Amino acid sequence: MTVLLNDFRAQWSAVGAEVLAAVDRVGASGWYILGREVERFESALASAWGLPHAVGVGNGLDAIEIGLRCLGIRPGDKVLTTPLSAFATTLAVMRCGGVPVFVDTDASGLLDLDRCRNVLSRNPGIRFVVPVHLYGHCVDLESLEALREEFDLRIVEDCAQAIGARFRGRGVGTVGQVAAAGADSGFQSIRLRPRDGRGTPPVARARRGQGTSATRTRILRGRARAGPRRFGFRSGIARRPRSVERSIQRAAAGKHR
Ligand SMILES: Cc1ncc(COP(=O)(O)O)c(C=O)c1O
Repeated sequence: MTVLLNDFRAQWSAVGAEVLAAVDRVGASGWYILGREVERFESALASAWGLPHAVGVGNGLDAIEIGLRCLGIRPGDKVLTTPLSAFATTLAVMRCGGVPVFVDTDASGLLDLDRCRNVLSRNPGIRFVVPVHLYGHCVDLESLEALREEFDLRIVEDCAQAIGARFRGRGVGTVGQVAAAGADSGFQSIRLRPRDGRGTPPVARARRGQGTSATRTRILRGRARAGPRRFGFRSGIARRPRSVERSIQRAAAGKHR
């Protein structure tokens, strides 16, 4: 018997009807970008994650980039990350003008947090880390949290390959100020960690006049505009999710729940 590594036909037989209905719904609505379908997707994901905000963006690469920018990255900032990931992880850092600093993996192939501690101790200027939960496996979230506290880190967790994964009962994405998910997990979105219980990560709160991180993310994905207002973010980008993609993902995810 041949067992395929990936059998997308099997997936289609499970979710095809819901997917076609979702496409039909979006087409009939005439609303292809953002809109109600994306809002439904965002609230389904936020409630699955137990958080007040999830913001849909174009793809996982955008989620990491926008997450870093929401956390205040500036050109030239160094970002610790792993060399073993999809290229999108590093590309997101580079698109912000950041400088990737690769730290080797541990025996399981995940970012080695002991090595990170060494690098951070020797380089006190490094504030950003993008750990990757690879192949469905979690980075040790307790050690990551300890590092965050010790070095006052801004963390975007790359959850693209591990959206529902847990470490000792704790879900991925609960340590970084931002969690990013991508196409492999079926979701392209940004999840914002409510450190103070109100959905406002501390970095965003410190930046007066720019609203919460959720608001900032929404503004950034829409070319730095919110209604008639233009914001001073230097390069707003058009990374708005397509309604049809998100409605398909919601249909498919619902079927697999
Ligand atoms: C670990 C990881 N990070 C980021 C991404 C980027 O996601 P997307 O392809 O949606 O841009 C991927 C997707 O391949 C990934 O596997």
